[in-house]
Amino acid sequence: MTQFPVPAVAVIVVAAGSGSRLGRDQPKAFVPLGGRPILEHALTGVFGLAEPAQVIVVAPAAQLADARAIATGVAGAAAGYLDIVAGGETRQSSVALGLAQVRTGVTVVLVHDAARALTPAAQIDAVVAAVRATGHGIVPGLPVVDTIKRVDAATTILGTVDRSQLSAVQTPQGFPRAMLDAAFAWAATLPAADAQDLTDDAALVAAAGNTVSVIPGEPLAFKVTTAWDLRRAELLLGADAAAPASAEPRVGTGLDVHAFDESSALWLAGLHWPGERGLSGHSDGDAAVHAICDALLAAAGLGDIGQVFGTADPRLTDAHGDVFLTETLRLVTEAGYRVGNVTVQIIGNRPKLAPRRVEAQELLSGILHAPVSVSATTTDALGFTGRGEGIAALATALLLPEQVLPGQVHQGIRPALA
Ligand code: CTP
Ligand code: MG
Repeated sequence: MTQFPVPAVAVIVVAAGSGSRLGRDQPKAFVPLGGRPILEHALTGVFGLAEPAQVIVVAPAAQLADARAIATGVAGAAAGYLDIVAGGETRQSSVALGLAQVRTGVTVVLVHDAARALTPAAQIDAVVAAVRATGHGIVPGLPVVDTIKRVDAATTILGTVDRSQLSAVQTPQGFPRAMLDAAFAWAATLPAADAQDLTDDAALVAAAGNTVSVIPGEPLAFKVTTAWDLRRAELLLGADAAAPASAEPRVGTGLDVHAFDESSALWLAGLHWPGERGLSGHSDGDAAVHAICDALLAAAGLGDIGQVFGTADPRLTDAHGDVFLTETLRLVTEAGYRVGNVTVQIIGNRPKLAPRRVEAQELLSGILHAPVSVSATTTDALGFTGRGEGIAALATALLLPEQVLPGQVHQGIRPALA
């Protein structure tokens, strides 16, 4: 822990509730939302905070190991900032148990519902900044847009509430640490009859005599309470994943060069070429396929093959073109594109491409589900290709924007073409 700077902020993420209104057979924080647990989504926002923060996950006692696995996955290298603790019977007792874990040096404490799974990091940053600027308790809130009626037990309307005085408050709620500690200590001294469970921390802090102010909230920070809310969150996630990065077609180019290597077999344009000198490289040295991947990644704005696949991954030792192309296609599809067409020109004296050109095109077109043209040229005996030292390949790719329906996003193969 000592290698981490001491954080000045702690975020208590309460995730110990059962989710009775959601009505699943597991606690709400572990219910999948778009294939990932609600807690994982919530923590992704929290770990997106601009400054380092202690993150205290308050989980059901029976699910501590699950909570730890999810939280360490999100934290990555920041796992040293993480603490996991068992919650209590009520939300308020869960917050109190989290508060007991706040580390020395923390001056601002936030309390956040895991159930507000899609809360953007910017809202969490804004709460921290407002606590520091005002020294008050801070809650994000949205104006109430509906007309609100006061009704009696028989549901007869008694009157209309002035909605200009109302705010629908969210989390995270933030407080100077000393204020929150004192308010919880005060609540613990109340006679049992007075100690009602308050549904948020702002109510408790205000009841203890402190000022709590509202800052603008964020519609995405809504709480997943019912099955309807879960569906809404799923649709929001799906819509996000399906939006292509560009609404226009995009082109990209890619170049790759490999030196001949007597000791390896030749793989080029996805084909094995028996009897030909091979190419050196971490994988099979297929310059044509690597150039195509670079062109596709560039067109999608996803970087390049070295960045995406690395050069040290042992799974790619001797990997052939289909591995690179399939994964590249998956990334491009996830980014919201389909392949329009691809061309690749192989530059070198050998192998003679013509006899196998159609075979190569069919193989590559089949993998990418789009037309791939393969051509070849020599360089009139000039340069390294002319001297027969190696092969170069130059590719161009056209990508077309496409809305991908939620659920198809991770399949890579497009249903219409599969
Ligand atoms: N919470 C908690 N400990 C409790 C009760 C609630 O940590 N004993 C947390 C929930 O996990 C949730 C947040 O407080 O992230 C807001 O509570 P709510 O939405 O009411 O969740 P649940 O209590 O789990 O749901 P329900 O009220 O439908 O049972
Ligand atoms: Mg509840």
